[in-house]
Amino acid sequence: MEQELNTLQTLAKDELNAVTDSAQLEDFRIRFLGRKGEFSSIMKGLGKVPKEDKPRLGQLANNIKKELESLFDKKKISLNADSSASGNGSSIDLTLPGRKPETGKLHPVTQIMNEVCAIFESLGFSVAEGPDVEHDHYNFEALNIPAHHPARDMHDTFYVSDSILLRTHTSPMQARIMETQQPPLRVIAPGKVYRCDSDITHTPMFHQVEGFLVDKNVSFADLKGVLTIFTQKMFDKKLELRFRPSFFPFTEPSAEVDIACVMCNGKGCRVCKQTGWLEILGSGMIDPEVFKKVGYNPEVYSGFAFGLGIERIAMLKYGIDDIRLYYENDLRFLSQF
Ligand code: DAH
Repeated sequence: MEQELNTLQTLAKDELNAVTDSAQLEDFRIRFLGRKGEFSSIMKGLGKVPKEDKPRLGQLANNIKKELESLFDKKKISLNADSSASGNGSSIDLTLPGRKPETGKLHPVTQIMNEVCAIFESLGFSVAEGPDVEHDHYNFEALNIPAHHPARDMHDTFYVSDSILLRTHTSPMQARIMETQQPPLRVIAPGKVYRCDSDITHTPMFHQVEGFLVDKNVSFADLKGVLTIFTQKMFDKKLELRFRPSFFPFTEPSAEVDIACVMCNGKGCRVCKQTGWLEILGSGMIDPEVFKKVGYNPEVYSGFAFGLGIERIAMLKYGIDDIRLYYENDLRFLSQF
């Protein structure tokens, strides 16, 4: 038996030295150290040895088993170290902190767009969407901007063909809706618009919301009322409004609307360029010419319209000075909203 034990010891050590991966190591464990392994089967013979040899052989067997077990443990550790160093991923450190899956969020422009629409819906406006690829007719002609009108220059239009273009504003929806529906109308039209322009306050694609209301006896006071409620809800405070006379071919009179600077409350700062005011939208009373083109009688109906830029409102609300940040897909920027 002593002979058998010594042979097993030598054999096991050689075999263990030759082990190169954890599968082989497990085979080794089953073959030599397992309950039905070679070591156990030799130990079964211990009952048959002469009584006086038992203590010595028992001791020897124990020592060999301990030695093999400790060599086995060392081998296991060294195999693990190798595999994590070579990065083949076969060992997993369960003590490492877990990775939290990021949850997605709405883009800040979408958030503001939804907010703007919700405010106007609460005032009884319905929402209508129209095509991004538009006819020259709706984008210009129907809005009292004939060919060669100088106002076309301001639109930096992307043309698809002579008469088809990417809409430069959401105002064409005024004509599209009025052409098919009769007053009273209270509509907003949100969507993407396109202009061949790019710098820190312009991107070639941006978002607008057009709004218009047509009924009998609509006056400039109604426009002022609606826009006052809108700006107060949008910026969560009572903000002073300023109507500056302006010109748009589809409104008469026309006004650009400024709000008291949300950063400095009108005192003057970097954001409002020390003026105390921020321009937020264009507006006016719908021009009788626009009514005539859709078959409304301007003697009977009047209405107001306005158009606002969503990115601009989002910039003012969050104090952002470069519009391009919205479209660079930098999660460090986007996830703040
Ligand atoms: N469509 C104009 C633009 O994009 C904005 C605008 C001005 C819309 C006055 C209106 C309006 O409805 O009445 O520059």
